[in-house]
Amino acid sequence: MAKTVLITGISSGFGKAIAEELASSGYNVYGFSRKQKEDLTSKIKVLQADVTDVSSVKKGVETLFNQEGKIDILINNAGMGISGSIEDSSTEAIRLQMETNFMGYVNMIQAVLPTMRSQKGGTIVNISSIGGLMGLPYQGFYAASKFAIEGLSESLRMELSPFKIKVVVIQPGDFLTSFTSNRQPERSSTGAYQEQFDKTLSLIEKDEKGGLKPAYLAKKLAKILNKKNPCHSYIIATLEQKMAVVLKRILPGSWFSAILSDHYGIK
Ligand SMILES: NC(=O)c1ccc[n+]([C@@H]2O[C@H](COP(=O)([O-])OP(=O)(O)OC[C@H]3O[C@@H](n4cnc5c(N)ncnc54)[C@H](OP(=O)(O)O)[C@@H]3O)[C@@H](O)[C@H]2O)c1
Repeated sequence: MAKTVLITGISSGFGKAIAEELASSGYNVYGFSRKQKEDLTSKIKVLQADVTDVSSVKKGVETLFNQEGKIDILINNAGMGISGSIEDSSTEAIRLQMETNFMGYVNMIQAVLPTMRSQKGGTIVNISSIGGLMGLPYQGFYAASKFAIEGLSESLRMELSPFKIKVVVIQPGDFLTSFTSNRQPERSSTGAYQEQFDKTLSLIEKDEKGGLKPAYLAKKLAKILNKKNPCHSYIIATLEQKMAVVLKRILPGSWFSAILSDHYGIK
């Protein structure tokens, strides 16, 4: 029987690419979106849901369950990024960041777990980021939201092992998606950071615009989902970005910060 997968953030980027890849591999694909109204194809059904709204999440999961009677895989993917200095970022923007990238994942996990537990199995995939392994300048709250996903996933994996539910974390590097244009930059109200922020953000955006295509990640994820015993986490990125993660693990912190600061033009 075809596996039923629910993907959040299906309207663009990774979500759309993963949906297309899994549908073509025979999965029964459902996706959540706020703005996408119609099904993407006859094999990719779209449900209207905002991951920050618990009742909307519950309603969407219930609709899927009533139609399919099971949820084999949840792919927590819907997310966005704010950017700006820690000092200048508004409370409203910080809350939006954490509500979407952290509470959005939590709301989805809590909504599917009763079904997965009663099925005695399932897989939860949390799309994190290399930004969940290292803080980048002017990306502090985005990094915090992804570091939170890393910690949450480690705890969740141990809690769910008795129920045969797997937890897999994906840490993508830079990819070319709508993430860059959807980013919400916070202007520097103090003015103290604006020049450096503009310079750093343009370098970050340059890296993203020259990034890998989301179909690459989708193909890798499809292979991971086929594994009987997947690893806890996978970095999906260029060799250079994977090297940065290795360097962070082995170098003294001050050396690694100096390398990153140099890359982002921070004097
Ligand atoms: N692109 C990269 O370089 C990169 C790197 C590392 C990690 N990531 C992570 O990958 C994930 C997907 O990002 P992407 O690059 O594919 O960006 P994207 O093209 O902007 O897609 C983000 C998706 O999230 C959905 N979304 C945002 N807020 C939502 C909400 N409150 N409720 C429901 N859906 C919501 C959007 O759908 P609607 O607007 O239709 O609701 C959209 O489909 C994110 O978690 C991001 O942090 C991206």
